[in-house]
Amino acid sequence: MLKIGVLASGRGSNLQAMIDAVGKGELPAQISVVISDQVGALALERARSHGIDARFINSKEYRDKAEYERQIANCLQSYGVELVALAGYMRLLTTELINAFPGRIVNIHPSLLPAFPGLEAQRRALEYGVKYSGCTVHFVELGMDTGPIIAQAVVAVEEGDTAETLAERILVCEHQIYPRVLRWIAEGRVQLDGRRVHIKR
Ligand code: GRF
Repeated sequence: MLKIGVLASGRGSNLQAMIDAVGKGELPAQISVVISDQVGALALERARSHGIDARFINSKEYRDKAEYERQIANCLQSYGVELVALAGYMRLLTTELINAFPGRIVNIHPSLLPAFPGLEAQRRALEYGVKYSGCTVHFVELGMDTGPIIAQAVVAVEEGDTAETLAERILVCEHQIYPRVLRWIAEGRVQLDGRRVHIKR
């Protein structure tokens, strides 16, 4: 069974979608540990209430980002984690963590990448005037939201949308595609070919 470690800074609704998918037998994987950089992250609560180990790792206790990430990597490795899923983890990763899990870190972003990487993607997409937005699951590289794209879901912008209403509809899609991508990975169906990702049947 694929062992997944989740990194989350906030409310953890994507984590919840993963937990639910595992519970329903739709994701043949084990969520081994959830790590947060925020002591009060709802994600930690969600993990604990489902009997999943939840760890707050305080960045302030480490000299620099490299040391901090080494600690996170150590923690993940101590659980035998094979795949790291970022779910609303609000820090850019450095080589320390990326090299510890080469090609084994994925993220979800609330836009159709490469459009609108970074923070407040839904608001910026709306203000730009796009008619379609959505979400993207991708492998994580050093850049901000730049890694190879595994899956995307499209959400139409509606008349009268606010950043909040658009974000809400995108979130519904996030909760569908993230567990699905994790299942594909657990089934060994995801193949990286340069920047292109193939999903084997
Ligand atoms: C999601 O919109 C995700 O795409 C982005 O951060 C948000 C996390 O939400 N990376 P949640 O914590 O999973 O509810």
